[in-house]
Amino acid sequence: MAEQKRDGFSSKLGIIVATAGSALGLGNIYRFPCEAGTNGGGAFLIVYLGIALLIGTPLMISEFVIGRRARSNPLSAFRRLEGKTSSIWSIIGYLGVVCAFLILAFYTTVAGWTLGYLGKAAANQFAGQNLAQIQQQFADFTGHAWLPLFCQMVFLALTAMVVMRGVKNGIERYSKILMPMLLLIMLVLCIKSLTLSGAGEGLRFFFWPDFSKITGRVLISALGQSFFSLSVGMGALITYGSYIGRNDNMVSSAVGVTLADTLVAVLAGVIIFPAAFTFGIRPEAGASLAFTTLPMVFQQMAGGYIFCLLFFVLLVIATLTSTISLLEVIVATLTEELRITRGRAAIVGTIGTAIIGVLATLSFRPDSPLRLGNNTVFDLLDHLTALYLMPLGGLLIVLFVGWRMGRTNVLDELTNSDSLPLGLRRGIVFVVRYLAPVAIAIIFVSQLME
Ligand code: TRP
Repeated sequence: MAEQKRDGFSSKLGIIVATAGSALGLGNIYRFPCEAGTNGGGAFLIVYLGIALLIGTPLMISEFVIGRRARSNPLSAFRRLEGKTSSIWSIIGYLGVVCAFLILAFYTTVAGWTLGYLGKAAANQFAGQNLAQIQQQFADFTGHAWLPLFCQMVFLALTAMVVMRGVKNGIERYSKILMPMLLLIMLVLCIKSLTLSGAGEGLRFFFWPDFSKITGRVLISALGQSFFSLSVGMGALITYGSYIGRNDNMVSSAVGVTLADTLVAVLAGVIIFPAAFTFGIRPEAGASLAFTTLPMVFQQMAGGYIFCLLFFVLLVIATLTSTISLLEVIVATLTEELRITRGRAAIVGTIGTAIIGVLATLSFRPDSPLRLGNNTVFDLLDHLTALYLMPLGGLLIVLFVGWRMGRTNVLDELTNSDSLPLGLRRGIVFVVRYLAPVAIAIIFVSQLME
């Protein structure tokens, strides 16, 4: 069964490209600035960086260790590693599949917006518009009767098509060229942003930590954001870990992906905050932040039309490689657990996601009844996964690797044909055993007590 899954996805793709494809997406360009903006800017950034490097990377390595050792989807991985037909640790797998559904549901709402904005970019709808008009465009688009739903469904269908066919010859090959291109465009945008009049103020907001702003809420938001951005805490990388070859160095891959992911998130901040302060957009604007600041920046640039168009094309593709990794978790699990074909599994996964996803998208309408107090269904799905389910999943994963899998097994899995020094391996095991679980537990509890 495992064989079927492995050639169904792609065995040839480089682990870094696949994992980076999963990690890089709306989490970096849309969600990170949004979270940093609402959680105090610099204070959030510093906590975020600490957590991403100290907890995120070891968690990513832990998922790879489980995946490569078990060579199966996150559900059966724990049964295999435990050598039993059922294991309580499989709860991590169940949690992961539920999480994949929920994340994909609200993620495709924003993914749909990127398609819509690609259309707007092509039609040159931002040129000559003032801030109020750009903001109105966002409100009109997200509140439109059917357009955002249509875009979301198109995006889901695209994702399903790629996952069904297997990604062997498609996306990953292009990602190798397209993701560096995205980085390049972001660098250009960065330079433009730094020349805007509000650059100093924006940079101060983003980089200058006001430690008094660090609350339990900021800690858990940074934890949730780092897990979300790195695609860890729900088994997506257990699935990818099962495709890693025996001799691939997963430690350096994990470090490389974390650094690249962090770089893109910070770049997004350096683009968005100077622009926000220049144009008078509040950093805590939330969902609309990226979708109003970016068009404003493009509009002021020489060659803005082309840059804007190219940016949204690349953003759609970056987003697609992320949705693929989410659907892949569902498909890998359904094909192996229910013994159905990839095609069927992709259809079941897509329809399930679409049903919840519609509610997330509709909840953005101004008069939508899909709210609980101030929170929309979109917010609820986002909070439930990033603030609760993923921290919980991450905690269980490091506990399993640190305490249940057996120290020698883990060290052995990390050796990489002895290419990794023992000291480093021991350091990783220490972090996974003590530092990561304690830190996640403290942060998790601190938010519950607030
Ligand atoms: N990390 C992706 C992003 O930043 C989103 C994503 C893809 C994800 N796969 C995931 C998030 C698995 C959590 C779990 O856009």
